[in-house]
Amino acid sequence: MDTMTLTASPMPRVRPAGPPSLSPGALRSEQRITLTAPRGRPNIVVSALNLVVSLLYGRRASLQKFLVLEHLAQVPYRSWERIAQRRIARTRGRSTLARRIQVRVAEARDQQDNEQWHMLVLEELLARRGQRLGRLRYRLVPRLMAAPWQLTTWILHLVKPRWSYLLNAAFEDHAEGEYMRFVAANPRLERELFASELADRWDHPVTVADVLRQIGHDERCHKLDSIAAARGNEPQPAGPTPAALPASPARHEPLDAAA
Ligand SMILES: [Fe+2]
Ligand SMILES: [Fe+2]
Repeated sequence: MDTMTLTASPMPRVRPAGPPSLSPGALRSEQRITLTAPRGRPNIVVSALNLVVSLLYGRRASLQKFLVLEHLAQVPYRSWERIAQRRIARTRGRSTLARRIQVRVAEARDQQDNEQWHMLVLEELLARRGQRLGRLRYRLVPRLMAAPWQLTTWILHLVKPRWSYLLNAAFEDHAEGEYMRFVAANPRLERELFASELADRWDHPVTVADVLRQIGHDERCHKLDSIAAARGNEPQPAGPTPAALPASPARHEPLDAAA
């Protein structure tokens, strides 16, 4: 490895892994797709979680509330990664199966990284607005909420992985709609430039509205990946993102049941 190159850069660029980065025009059309799509059936667990978040952080969508949701968004991916690692250890020389599970682990890590990028964006936006985030309310309480959420996704994945993926798909569906509706309700964000190291995902200037629409689109990608995983499909490389996957029966043996 060329250590000279590594030390020469004062601020290494960390591009988020995962969903594709879209242009402002493409993001506006993806927002329209989300806003005009019929809403999915509410999931009782996700509704209960959102009720708790609303009671603690208010009913109205806000950057602070999104930050809390992003803490929770990383949890299922962490659970799945740990379970998949255990399954790799149990493949006992079946290298093809181990390799397939490894692809699923890599996907879970990419999604965690992408959720972390969302969190960094929100923290930066709040800091710019001079919002002080209390440790108890925005660090400790989200961690306390994450514990039962982690247990639920973990147990569901052990008992029936499909349920865990569908639960996450419902969570991501809610997040996608929240971000897209928040941007629509706050047109001033269209005039606020997002000048930040975190904007190195694009090679052109973007507004705060674009960045929040991009997060909404990332959530849609996470949702579709979870639905595909629930159907037992292999992780797909990044590409054009439909609003929903066509209904089809599972054609592959679920990886999660295979080990
Ligand atoms: Fe997110
Ligand atoms: Fe997400």
